[in-house]
Amino acid sequence: MSQHQNPVALVTGGTTGIGLAAALLLQQRGHDVVVTGQNPDNLADAQRLLGEKAVVLKADARSVADAARVATEIQRRFGRLDVAFLNAGVARFAPLEAFDEAFYDDQLAVNVKGVLFQLQKLLPLLGAGASVILNTSVVNQKGIAGASVYSATKGALVAALRALAVELAPKGIRVNAVSPGPIETPIYGKLGMPAEAVAGFKSGMTAQVPLGRFGTAAEVAEVVGFLASKGASYVTGVEVSVDGGLAAT
Ligand SMILES: NC(=O)c1ccc[n+]([C@@H]2O[C@H](COP(=O)([O-])OP(=O)(O)OC[C@H]3O[C@@H](n4cnc5c(N)ncnc54)[C@H](OP(=O)(O)O)[C@@H]3O)[C@@H](O)[C@H]2O)c1
Repeated sequence: MSQHQNPVALVTGGTTGIGLAAALLLQQRGHDVVVTGQNPDNLADAQRLLGEKAVVLKADARSVADAARVATEIQRRFGRLDVAFLNAGVARFAPLEAFDEAFYDDQLAVNVKGVLFQLQKLLPLLGAGASVILNTSVVNQKGIAGASVYSATKGALVAALRALAVELAPKGIRVNAVSPGPIETPIYGKLGMPAEAVAGFKSGMTAQVPLGRFGTAAEVAEVVGFLASKGASYVTGVEVSVDGGLAAT
């Protein structure tokens, strides 16, 4: 075991939205944080917000070589990892007849391949008591027109998380997920839909949420913080909804 004192947390896609909120929360709770992303402006903003102590790495979630590089960098700096929030994700919406192979391949590459290979490369750094947290979505439980590919990626993650929770339990590693409902983040600017369609989609979603509003990234981060904590030491293999009750409808 490394001599490094503070718990160490990796947040993939930790430069904006839910990932950034989780990185800030984990940092406030005493973790040394490592975040990844690829957009240079977002990387620079995250470094400013998280401060010089945070390790901000440019890494493409679609690249197995980058996943290995992230693990090597954590090994070099800290010698181990306590929390892996594998959050990097993309959401693109299009009806069945409108999407092409690249649309499919890109979402699968970031949301599924990226998560599994990043975890594979991190495994030697994770010991007993480590917590792995995936970021799924309410789309696992609710059908949303236009979201078939995105939903397929998140459904794959839930299935993988159950297998991984069982597989890694003998090592004392817990594997869980947060399942956000509609959360106000930059992701809604990247859906590939016109602005008016996004606005209509958002008001339609709000009307369906029992709590009657979008959630905040900080509200998801709180649940990530719980799953990362010793308070969740007997919790593994579950997806925790953070969705204002949407999955219950
Ligand atoms: N917001 C919601 O309503 C909602 C609901 C359910 C689930 N989720 C899930 O929550 C997670 C975070 O989303 P968010 O809402 O916080 O969106 P966001 O603000 O767009 O954050 C996405 C993060 O992932 C990173 N990322 C995307 N593609 C990447 C790639 N190829 N390589 C490295 N990093 C990459 C982004 O970095 P760059 O900017 O550098 O690309 C960014 O840091 C996703 O997995 C999403 O599916 C969100």
